[in-house]
Amino acid sequence: MKRRHPRTARQWTSLDRQGRAPLYRQIYERFRNAIASGILQPGERLPSARSLASQLATARGTVDAAYDLLVSEGYIVCRGAAGTIVSPTLADVLHQRRQSFQTADARKNLRNTSVAAAGSSPGSFQMGLPALDAFPRSVWSRLAVKRARNLSSDAMTYQNPFGYEPLREAIASYLALARGISCSSEKIIITAGFQGAMGLITRTLLAPGDEVWVEDPGYPHARRALTAAGASLVPVPVDSQGMDVAAGIVKSPRARLAVVTPSHQAPLGVALDLPRRLSLLAWADKVDARIVEDDYDGEFRYNSKPLPALKSLDRSDRVLYVGTFSKVLFPGLRLGYMVLPDSLVDAFERVLDTLYRDSSTFIPSVVADFMTEGHFARHVKRMRQLYAERRAALAAALDEVFADRFDVKLQAGGMHLLAYLRHHERDVTVAQRANSHGLAVSALSRWSVKNDCGQALLLSFTNIPEELALREAKRLEQAIKY
Ligand SMILES: Cc1ncc(COP(=O)(O)O)c(C=O)c1O
Repeated sequence: MKRRHPRTARQWTSLDRQGRAPLYRQIYERFRNAIASGILQPGERLPSARSLASQLATARGTVDAAYDLLVSEGYIVCRGAAGTIVSPTLADVLHQRRQSFQTADARKNLRNTSVAAAGSSPGSFQMGLPALDAFPRSVWSRLAVKRARNLSSDAMTYQNPFGYEPLREAIASYLALARGISCSSEKIIITAGFQGAMGLITRTLLAPGDEVWVEDPGYPHARRALTAAGASLVPVPVDSQGMDVAAGIVKSPRARLAVVTPSHQAPLGVALDLPRRLSLLAWADKVDARIVEDDYDGEFRYNSKPLPALKSLDRSDRVLYVGTFSKVLFPGLRLGYMVLPDSLVDAFERVLDTLYRDSSTFIPSVVADFMTEGHFARHVKRMRQLYAERRAALAAALDEVFADRFDVKLQAGGMHLLAYLRHHERDVTVAQRANSHGLAVSALSRWSVKNDCGQALLLSFTNIPEELALREAKRLEQAIKY
């Protein structure tokens, strides 16, 4: 493996401080481009965060945020005292790609495809992934082959900008049954997952400088999408009843938007309680604000029925409900959906018509068949059972291996558990040690803006079969031993 000296300061002189892109994003993008284009080679060492921050005259946290993003996307790995290096696993992918793409255009593609491939083998404990081993691939491929064989002329023409109609109908039926939301398919838009929905929402509803409530701690990608749109973020603390709505009203009484995860707060796992749901809706109604309900994994509750969505209580049409297939099927689909308030249908239609004619028919048609033929409901039910088992097994294994070091908290639902660190350790440091051994552990504090909600590791159990739980807990122990 090549180990060169960290890059010198000369390359890092010109961050654009007046630009719209935040500084961490600019640093991230430069590294990403340098890696994809071969300027930085797999195995090559990056400057330490402290030294790069001082070269750039920026805060250490800014460089940390860029490095975290690069780690989470598989470009770089932290090797503890040995420093941070470009991921050696990219070598093969980059090499193969370079051989097969010789033109300038193809080299441009490389930047995207190589990293997608690099990111495709998840490390243990990786957040955000459903059980990849339990997906019914044979049913899926049967449905996909059938659709591919019977390509109709209709499917080859331009489609409704809101997306493939049969899928929107299937989603409307599913939401009525499973999430207590009654809506017609005309109000449903198919999106490129939650992230695609956020792009559409920010473009349609926000002007630069608009205040937006975000949960603190909360989903970093939601914050990034809002920041990229020039919104002014108002972090609202989360406690055991979910987002503290009263605190939000004090901090920013006339915010334009609030982005919340009411069924299963990301990442603390609590549910927004009924009084707060009602006061959030009442506040939005009073000041004409909108609420984005991110219902990313509401299907997975283990000891009780899934909670009805916030949208099901929305009498004054304030809530934009966003669902995703990333958790219930798989994130590589890049498929999600949004239920619009009546009053916003025209505004979204205009934006979709002009800018977002990107909804295809093929994948949505396979998903629609998967839903209408009953596979979807069966799959969700099976996964609920499987996750309950995997969750219990991992929690027991962690208790056994880390009884003295972790305080493992199980929430009512979700796809990860929280292991609070008992001995005043920094979660970021512990997570970095785990990452350098190929374990995709995340640190709770990375999800916070201001609200100190403790030091904990976020550990997904979805891809750890019961019989491997103890082995994985021991691997983690080896990786993070003092
Ligand atoms: C809070 C939250 N919302 C939404 C998503 C899903 O995003 P997407 O649909 O863009 O894959 C995730 C994925 O991890 C998440 O954690």
